[in-house]
Amino acid sequence: MNKSMLVTGGAGFIASHFIRYIRQKYPETHIMTIDKLTYAGSKKNLEAVIDDENYHFIEGDIADEQFINDIFSEYDIGGVVNFAAESHVDRSIKDVKTFIESNMLGTAVLLQAAREAWNNADELDTRRFHQISTDEVYGSLGLDSDEKFNERKPYDPRNPYSASKAGADMLVKSFGHTYGMNVVTSSSSNNYGPAQHEEKLIPTIIANALKGQPIPIYGDGKNVRDWVYVTDHCEALDLIYHNGKTLEKYNVGGGNEKTNHELAMMICDILDHLKPGQYSHKELITFIDDRQGHDRRYSVDYSKIKNALGWTPSTPFEKGIYKTVEWYVNQWEKVSH
Ligand SMILES: NC(=O)c1ccc[n+]([C@@H]2O[C@H](COP(=O)([O-])OP(=O)(O)OC[C@H]3O[C@@H](n4cnc5c(N)ncnc54)[C@H](O)[C@@H]3O)[C@@H](O)[C@H]2O)c1
Repeated sequence: MNKSMLVTGGAGFIASHFIRYIRQKYPETHIMTIDKLTYAGSKKNLEAVIDDENYHFIEGDIADEQFINDIFSEYDIGGVVNFAAESHVDRSIKDVKTFIESNMLGTAVLLQAAREAWNNADELDTRRFHQISTDEVYGSLGLDSDEKFNERKPYDPRNPYSASKAGADMLVKSFGHTYGMNVVTSSSSNNYGPAQHEEKLIPTIIANALKGQPIPIYGDGKNVRDWVYVTDHCEALDLIYHNGKTLEKYNVGGGNEKTNHELAMMICDILDHLKPGQYSHKELITFIDDRQGHDRRYSVDYSKIKNALGWTPSTPFEKGIYKTVEWYVNQWEKVSH
């Protein structure tokens, strides 16, 4: 079996954790990363692996057909894990086109290049294409319901980001059905952990609290997200990539539903402990105008991956969030001294 893996978007938050995880667990696997290095990507996230013999970084855009075709003709790629995407809902509300280009067109370009290269190698049905998707494709759940997203739930994306991810998922499935490609898709809930881009909710809460600035929380703060620790997600992705069934979809959740307000309060409690001051960081929490089309609640049913592949999230939220806050505080102290 060809053990080389193309990981797109490797300089981003989740993919950089995934690359470190795979490098440690399968040192013999050759990993190649393509990343456009948008504002969200940083080679700093790859410092731990960048000089490894079995690791290779190439800057480029997955939506650039010539560039991607050249990569597939130059290298014998055993499988693709497609993380590369514009990932921030707020940005998608202001600039839809970039999201369509990277998330949909980029996925289509990768699929086409992989199909052609693997067809020529006579291994179209064995080489894997793993699409990294999101629970947001399923839409929004009611606050009063106890419904969860399972894999049979019809897609109902409600913002340009989730619509672009849903479109990409459909393309992936179509390449499996039409051309017999060995595709698999996973949809995870919100990830948290070290080294997430500062524009996302948890880093924003921590950074603003440390700066003594208002901590912005959308609307009434009651929107619910289900949080999974990033390395738990990486464990799930490893299992899905290696053992998931062709054309199947697997949902990955943390079993940690928190309102945004609750989350901010928990983080402030940790900061009050790590960086005690004259006042509680909670006093900085400020409710601001709601996000347009703000999905109310996400909750992921991960029983399929649990039963089929034996995965469950292993990091208790209290432990994961403490480690995460501690990491940001350490980074903060490094730059402020
Ligand atoms: N963060 C989450 O909570 C979460 C939850 C579920 C699913 N996802 C999905 O996981 C994937 C990674 O999310 P993340 O939060 O780590 O994202 P991120 O924004 O931290 O990283 C995205 C990376 O992709 C790169 N990129 C963007 N467009 C590109 C292009 N056209 N060509 C090549 N590289 C490009 C960026 O430079 C960046 O390094 C995304 O597909 C996202 O939809 C994220």
